[in-house]
Amino acid sequence: MTRAEPQSVCQTEAFKQLSADYAAQASEKGAMIPLLQKTQEVFGYIPIDSIEAMARIMSVPESEIYGVVTFYKQFRLKPLGKYLVRLCDGTACHVNDSMVLQDILTDELKIPAGEDTSADGLFTLTPVACLGCCSLAPVIMINEETFGRLTPQKVWQIIRRFRAGEKSAETPSGGH
Ligand code: FES
Repeated sequence: MTRAEPQSVCQTEAFKQLSADYAAQASEKGAMIPLLQKTQEVFGYIPIDSIEAMARIMSVPESEIYGVVTFYKQFRLKPLGKYLVRLCDGTACHVNDSMVLQDILTDELKIPAGEDTSADGLFTLTPVACLGCCSLAPVIMINEETFGRLTPQKVWQIIRRFRAGEKSAETPSGGH
């Protein structure tokens, strides 16, 4: 059975290489988790095609692989957004209202309930433990950039700046 894959990975070299790895380790006990980790390292998530390939090549039921992927929080079945927004919820940030920022971010990024990624695929929001710059609490990181001493106002500005950057990248001829 073939399922629709939103972003087909089957034709990529990386997929072929991973399939070869599945075959090479098909009979190794305990190989599934490291192979899933490797798959996620390559694609940023576990594509459905990879689960199907792993099941077929390693003669393991797909349901078993799904079971592992959904059991361990480290695995994700959907691609990460272009921007990974890490919201610190360590102690210093928590007492400085990081949860208020979470609500604002969820709303501003338009992340559907129960999801972590915006519908346009641009932003993934994830809570993390201390980011190591508590004196700047509350703190978020967007990809490699750190933003501290945040207020709701600042969060709105930052997100709008990222969105505006995306828009101008899409329409180089400029504004409205
Ligand atoms: S608790 Fe947020 S940076 Fe340390």
